[in-house]
Amino acid sequence: MRLLKTALVAGALAVLSVTTIASAYAQDTKIGFIVKQPEEPWFQDEWKFADQAAKEKGFTLVKIGAEDGEKLMSAIDNLGAQGVQGFIVCTPDVKLGPGIVAKAAANNLKLMTVDDRLVGADGKALEEVPHMGISATKIGEAVGQAIIDEMKARGWKADEVGAIRVSYDQLPTAVDRVEGAISVLKANGFKAENIFDAPQAKTDTEAALNAATVVLNAHAGIKKWVSFGLNDEAVLGAVRASESVGIPADGMIGVGIGGADSAINEFKKPTATGFVGTVIISPKRHGYETALNMYDWVANNKEPEKLILTSGALAKRDDYQKVRQGLGIE
Ligand code: GLA
Repeated sequence: MRLLKTALVAGALAVLSVTTIASAYAQDTKIGFIVKQPEEPWFQDEWKFADQAAKEKGFTLVKIGAEDGEKLMSAIDNLGAQGVQGFIVCTPDVKLGPGIVAKAAANNLKLMTVDDRLVGADGKALEEVPHMGISATKIGEAVGQAIIDEMKARGWKADEVGAIRVSYDQLPTAVDRVEGAISVLKANGFKAENIFDAPQAKTDTEAALNAATVVLNAHAGIKKWVSFGLNDEAVLGAVRASESVGIPADGMIGVGIGGADSAINEFKKPTATGFVGTVIISPKRHGYETALNMYDWVANNKEPEKLILTSGALAKRDDYQKVRQGLGIE
C-alpha cells in the first residue's frame, strides 16, 4: 500500500514537473521573422499573422527588416545574441543562401524561408531548408488568364496590344510568375515581339514605374497595353507609368499578385484604374503557419515540411472583399 502511494506521488510529481517545464519552455520560446521589405503591405500582413501565432502559443516574436545582405547577416547574429531558437526569413537576395545557412548554424538557430527560396552557388534551390512559397507558375497563369479574359471583354485583338513584363529575373519565383502569365498570353495569340521586358532595379512600385516608362516611351505607337509582374507593386508601377504618358484606364489591363493594401487601396478609388485585378495570395498561411511550424520545431521538435506551395484566387474591384473573406484574411 505504502509502495503504491509512493509510486502515485512520484507519478504525480513527474507529471507536475513535465508540465512546469513545458510551460516555462513555451514562455522562453523566441522566434525571429526577418523580411526584406518591411514597408511593403504584404510583409506587414505576414508579420501581423505571425504575431497572432505568437499570441496564441505564448512565444516571443522578434521582427526585423533587412533590406540588404549586410543587414541580414547582422540581424541573424542579433537573433542569436537575444536567445532566439529559430527564425523565418524572406531574404533580400536568394544568392546569399549558403551564407545564411552558415550564419544560422553558427548561431545555433533553426532556419525556415518564406516567399523567396534560397539558392546555392549552382543556382539550384537549397532543398534542405524548409520553405513556404506561392505556386508561382500557376499563379502567373491565373494572371495571364485574367488579362486574356479582360481583353476579350474589351474586344481587343492580341496583335494590337503591347505587354509589359515587369521583371526581376534574379529571383526565381519572379521569373516563374511572369513566365506563367506569358505562356497563357502566347497560347491566346500574343506574339513574342509584342512582349516587352521592363527590368526593375528593386521590387517596389517606383522601380517598376521607371522600368515601364522606358518601354512605353520606346513604343509610343501602341495604344493598348497589358502588364504583369512579380507582385502588385510591380503592376501598379506599370499602371502609374501608363497614366503618366496619357494612356487612359481603358487602355491598360494590369493584373497583380498579392492582394494586400497596395491592391485594395487601388480598388477603393472612386473610379477604376488600369489595375483591374490581383491574384490574392495568403499572408495568413505565410505568416501564421510558418511561425506556428517554427514553434512546433523549436518547442516540440516537430520538423516542418520541406516545401509548402500555397495557392491564390483572382479578385477584382467588385469582389475582392468576398475573396479575402474566403481566404480568412478580411
Ligand atoms: C516575393 C515578393 C513579395 C510577395 C511574396 C509572396 O517575396 O517580393 O511581394 O509577392 O514573394 O510570396
